[in-house]
Amino acid sequence: MDEPAFRTIIEPFRIHSVEPIRMTTAADRRERLAAASYNLFQLHADDVLIDLLTDSGTGAMSRDQWAAIQHGDESYAGSPSYFVFRDAVRELFDFEHVIPVHQGRAAERILFTVLGGPGRIVPNNTHFDTTRANVEATGAEAVDLVIAEGKDPSSLHPFKGNMDLDALDELLTERGPDVPCVFVTITNNSGGGQPVSLANLRGVREVCDKYGKLLFLDACRFAENAWFIREREDGQGERDVVDIVRDIAGLADGMTMSAKKDPMGNIGGWLALDDSDLAQECRNLLILTEGFPTYGGLAGRDLEALAQGLKEVVQHDYLRYRITSTAYLGEALQKAGIPVLSPIGGHAVYIDARSLLPHLDPLQYPGQAVAVALYELGGVRSCEIGTVMFGRRPDGTEEAAPMDLVRLAIPRRTYTQSHMDYVIEVCQRLAERAHRLPGYRIVEEPNALRHFTARFEPVL
Ligand code: F0G
Repeated sequence: MDEPAFRTIIEPFRIHSVEPIRMTTAADRRERLAAASYNLFQLHADDVLIDLLTDSGTGAMSRDQWAAIQHGDESYAGSPSYFVFRDAVRELFDFEHVIPVHQGRAAERILFTVLGGPGRIVPNNTHFDTTRANVEATGAEAVDLVIAEGKDPSSLHPFKGNMDLDALDELLTERGPDVPCVFVTITNNSGGGQPVSLANLRGVREVCDKYGKLLFLDACRFAENAWFIREREDGQGERDVVDIVRDIAGLADGMTMSAKKDPMGNIGGWLALDDSDLAQECRNLLILTEGFPTYGGLAGRDLEALAQGLKEVVQHDYLRYRITSTAYLGEALQKAGIPVLSPIGGHAVYIDARSLLPHLDPLQYPGQAVAVALYELGGVRSCEIGTVMFGRRPDGTEEAAPMDLVRLAIPRRTYTQSHMDYVIEVCQRLAERAHRLPGYRIVEEPNALRHFTARFEPVL
């Protein structure tokens, strides 16, 4: 008998231990904002009611992950926890060398220290901010080659994270010797959490083979990407997500990973690859700053928790809930007339702040204006992904980013549907007063990754 279709999204878990959240008033929050120079990264998290700053490291671990932690073996070298972790990674991503690191950017730093350098150029569908910063820190150039639909907030293309294969081919024709590797980010976080299709990954593989280039995945949200493939790509609808993930991995030569996303960790990451010489160079760097290759900056207990998390994230009940609950928030905002990037991504809903605040120039940071207002109105913390994050070029000039988005990132298994209903209400209130929101100017900023520490003031 067919299952009846119910509208209510059931979180496929019960709550096992709880964390209090503290109610604050709008007046409190105005004070906190001024003290934080209108930079939401500078707030104290206990002044935040619903924290949608990031889905990174903020998920709830399961009973079985906490139990796995008790198996952690803290031996400096050759810990059994490393082998549990390595085997869990290889179940999905069958690379020869699995090198743990404390989080994704450590894998990026190590890999680009070996492969980058002045004169080099690294293509990606869209570099995440730390990935770009790590490429550029070596003197290399980072280029984004996502398809045109990926830059159009209203395009309904099902795989807006896809790489523009012609542009990649052209780059490799012109600059082939300068390109050490090609990267694909799944899902494409900076482009709205949009997936990449298997067909596109196969296309990227073909181009890489034509020019003899290594293909690396930035695979933080691989399970969400695989679920979208199952839902949207011809011929994939009956497949197990695990098999889709293995197909994805089989197309690549290696990966960098932040285990703070889909692997359900509060900390962790890895670099995995097949090339033994490259792996050896990377391990040598790992030992300098992360640690011995069987723990790489993590405790044995972290490795155990990640191994268990990798088993949980590919479960279909979980992924169905994850993707439908993100869509629930996004679709409610659309119904309320708030422009959001569509289709709705996997881990987050992205408000198109440039469209919502047409009275502001991109250099008055409409995304920052929306993010500040969401916190002031309802204690909801979000993240600007736009001109503040990407507007400063390495040569010091400033220009508008392609889009000014505000990301409502949803921590895994952490908030319930009523929390999301509250967020929807706060967004509706924001939309009512959008035309009155002030822009911002930056009064102090560092040379790179300015969004974390820049100080702002409203332009009144
Ligand atoms: N790549 C992507 C696509 C990411 O989203 C992130 C982190 C990283 C690499 C770096 O990993 O934080 O473990 O060093 N994204 C977080 C976010 C911070 O909020 O989207 P990390």
